[in-house]
Amino acid sequence: MSDFTSNFWSWFIASITIVGIAGCLLLLWITARKKVAARSDNTTGHVWDEDLYEMNNPLPRWWMGLFIITCVFGAGYLLAYPGLGSFGGKLGWTSVKKYDAEVDRLNASIAPIYARFDGMSVTALAADPQAQAIGERLFVNTCAQCHGSDARGSKGFPNLTDNDWLWGGEPENIHATITDGRMGIMAPVAEAVGSGEDVRNLAQYVLSLSGSPHDSVQAALGKDKFLICAACHGADGKGNQLLGAPNLTDKIWLHGYGANAIIDMITHGKTNIMPPQKDFLTEAQINVLTAYVWGLSNNQSQVSQASGQ
Ligand code: HEC
Ligand code: HEC
Repeated sequence: MSDFTSNFWSWFIASITIVGIAGCLLLLWITARKKVAARSDNTTGHVWDEDLYEMNNPLPRWWMGLFIITCVFGAGYLLAYPGLGSFGGKLGWTSVKKYDAEVDRLNASIAPIYARFDGMSVTALAADPQAQAIGERLFVNTCAQCHGSDARGSKGFPNLTDNDWLWGGEPENIHATITDGRMGIMAPVAEAVGSGEDVRNLAQYVLSLSGSPHDSVQAALGKDKFLICAACHGADGKGNQLLGAPNLTDKIWLHGYGANAIIDMITHGKTNIMPPQKDFLTEAQINVLTAYVWGLSNNQSQVSQASGQ
C-alpha cells in the first residue's frame, strides 16, 4: 500500500496533518473567545499613515463559517482518500486503479472500431485501407521513436520494410515479436577466437560472406575460426531466426558495415532489446499492427493477391 520503510514515517506525517488541522480550530476558538480591550471609539489604537485606524471588530461570521467548513471538509477528505501516512482511505481510491479504469474505458470506447477486424486474417487486414490507416497511426505513436516513422530503422534498430528478418517475417513471428518483445544477445567471443590478428582475419572472412570488399588472404586464414560463430549464425553464415542471429551473407548491417564494426561485435558483443508491447496495446491493436508491419515488406500486389484468395 505505501512505500514507507517503517511505520514511524507514516505516523509522523499523519500526526503532523492532524495536529495542523486541530491547531487551526484551536486558534479560531481562542481568538473568538478573547476580547481585545476596546476603546471607546472601537479602535485598537493602531494607526497608520496618520489617520488610518484599525477597527476592533470580530471576524465576520461567514468567514468563520467557511474556515470551519474547510477544516471539516479536510477531515472528511482524509477519511475518504489517502493522505494520512499509509492509511489508504475508506473509499480505497488509488491512482493505479484510476489509471486502469481510464485505460479500460478508452479501450472499451475504441473496441467497436476494431470489432470489424475481428477474425480477419493478416493478409486481409494488410489489404484493408482502414486497418492500414489505423496501423500506421499506431506505428507512429508506439514504434516510430525506435524504428523511424518510415519504419526503415537506423543503426541498432532494424529496418522493417525489407525482407531481412532477425526473428522471422511470417505474421506469427511478427505478432510474437510485438507481443512479447525480443532480446538479441551476442556474447563477446574474441577470447574464444584467439589473438587480435585472428579476430581481424575472421572479420575479413565475414566480409567475404556477403561478397563485400575484403582481403582474401586474411579471409582464408580466418575461415576456420568461423566455427565459433556457426553455433548461432549457422555454418553458412545465413543466420538463425530462433536466436535472432542475423544473416551475415547479405549486405544488410544492423550494427554498422565494415571490418571495424565486425571486430567490435566480436570483441564487445551486443544485447539488443525490443520491448514487449502487450501491456500497452490490446490484442486487436497488435493484430492490426502485425498486418501493418507485414504489409510493409510484402508488396501491394502480393497483398491484394493474398486477400483475394
Ligand atoms: C525502444 C525501442 C523500440 C520500440 C519502441 C519498438 N521497437 Fe521493435 N525493435 C527494437 C529493437 C532494438 C529491435 C531489434 C531486436 C534485436 O536486435 O533482436 C526490434 C525488433 C523488431 C522487430 C523484429 C525485426 C526482425 O528483423 O525480426 C519487429 C517486427 C518490430 N521490432 C516491430 C515493432 C513494432 C510494431 C513496434 C511498435 C509497437 C516496435 N517494434 C517498437 C526496438 C524497438
Ligand atoms: C551466442 C550466439 C552468437 C554467437 C556465438 C555469435 N553471434 Fe554474432 N550475433 C548474434 C546475435 C543474436 C546478433 C544480433 C544482435 C542483435 O540483436 O542486435 C549477432 C550480430 C552479429 C553481427 C552484426 C550483424 C549486423 O547486421 O550488423 C556480426 C557482424 C556478428 N554477429 C558476427 C559474429 C561473429 C564473427 C561471430 C563469431 C566470432 C559471432 N557473431 C558469434 C549471435 C551470436
